[in-house]
Amino acid sequence: MRHILASLRLDNQLAEPLYRQIYLRIKDAITQGTLVANARLPSVRGLASDLGVARATVENAYAALVAEGFLQSRGQAGTYVSAQLLDLTGRSTLAAIEPLPVIAPPAFRPERQIPPFQLGLPALDVFPRTVWQRIVARQLRSTTTAAMAHPPASGLPELRTAIAHYLHLSRGIVCQPEQVFICAGYQALLDLIISTLLRPGDAVWLEDPGYPITQPLLKIAGMQTIPIPVDDEGMDIAAGIALRPDARLAVLTPTHQSPLGISLSLARRMALLEWAQQQSAWIVEDDYDSEFRYHGRPLPPLKSLDRQGRVLYAGTFSKTLFPALRLAYLVVPACQVAAFEACSYLRMCGCPPLMQAAVADFINDGHFYRHLKRMRPLYRQRREWLAQALGQRLANELTVVAQAGGIQLLAQLKAGLNDHELAQQAWQQGLAVQALSNWQIATTSANGLLMGFTNFSQYADVERVVARLAEVIGRGN
Ligand SMILES: Cc1ncc(COP(=O)(O)O)c(C=O)c1O
Repeated sequence: MRHILASLRLDNQLAEPLYRQIYLRIKDAITQGTLVANARLPSVRGLASDLGVARATVENAYAALVAEGFLQSRGQAGTYVSAQLLDLTGRSTLAAIEPLPVIAPPAFRPERQIPPFQLGLPALDVFPRTVWQRIVARQLRSTTTAAMAHPPASGLPELRTAIAHYLHLSRGIVCQPEQVFICAGYQALLDLIISTLLRPGDAVWLEDPGYPITQPLLKIAGMQTIPIPVDDEGMDIAAGIALRPDARLAVLTPTHQSPLGISLSLARRMALLEWAQQQSAWIVEDDYDSEFRYHGRPLPPLKSLDRQGRVLYAGTFSKTLFPALRLAYLVVPACQVAAFEACSYLRMCGCPPLMQAAVADFINDGHFYRHLKRMRPLYRQRREWLAQALGQRLANELTVVAQAGGIQLLAQLKAGLNDHELAQQAWQQGLAVQALSNWQIATTSANGLLMGFTNFSQYADVERVVARLAEVIGRGN
């Protein structure tokens, strides 16, 4: 039988050297699963003669692939596809990777403006830039030579301390600064958790519908994701236990479920903690927007009920300051500090120390608290503007879902309207609404639109963009 590589076609006319053409074809064959782990490659002499090239050309291609770990040379026995590409089930890992789920459309930036309805942004028009610039400039001026060397891998001590104080005051979380790890955003934070606590193939519960970044991130890292339905009490813990009691981790947004806005009931919180305790599993409490609550008192964070040290508490400055900072934090149980430190040492926290120091000053000088205090009524106002404009223009097409807080608004669509199609059409018109159904994983019932409102600085602007949205919906009707 001829080896599959014998059918390789090389092209002398290409700028790509021949050895590199061979290298790329073999690499493609491996990543696409045509060549599986432990498959034997033709001998250098055999392939060179099949392809009509010099032996050195094939040797160079093989050598590059060996250096990158795709191939292994087993001496006299020949050259093989690396055995390390085997996963636990014995199939080629690379061949087994599924296509990633489609996530939010790319950011639309006409003339570098923030598009109306953009999700996940705080009010950037009222961010205290003058104060911020002064603080950053002061930090820049006072940078010592020592501070230009490698920064602490888990984050600057002054920021870790400032966050520990803030969490104590605002969320009733008691922790030592050493338990606070600084990360370059939620993605980096989740990566740090995965590499510290999980192994490839571990099962992880996540909310369905849920934040569309979480599932692909877990999948890339080789986790088995287990979507758990969310109802009017939040994640259905009993369903999770019935589906995969042996999961190693649950990732959820208990304060204000993303995207439905529900608060996880106390009974479910207790059931979740009990499950984690029994299974020695971990819980990630993603408290991404709890600072913004407009009605009633929030339930205390899950972390404050965590007597057994099973909860990892995650927060971010993306909603309270601005997302370009790439600054998030993770509070880990005291008994896990050493393990997280070891992993952080390998990864480094990834957020420039200058920015960390500036945020620490911003908090310690009282600006953070003042800013949040100003933002709450402002967001309540801007949310009401949007709800009002939608009510006036689109009452027959959608219903605004009442939520106690948060910086995005959810509107359920009436039967006959398709959120996915409408969101696509809206994006073409520069309106960054998102379809609720794109946040689903296994469930299929969602039909709504998610809209950011924080950057509407006057009611007339809201009316204008809601009129544009009404046109889109009118056309889709
Ligand atoms: C549910 C959820 N978790 C976490 C984050 C924080 O993300 P980051 O810190 O990477 O900006 C967001 C931001 O939109 C979010 O919506």
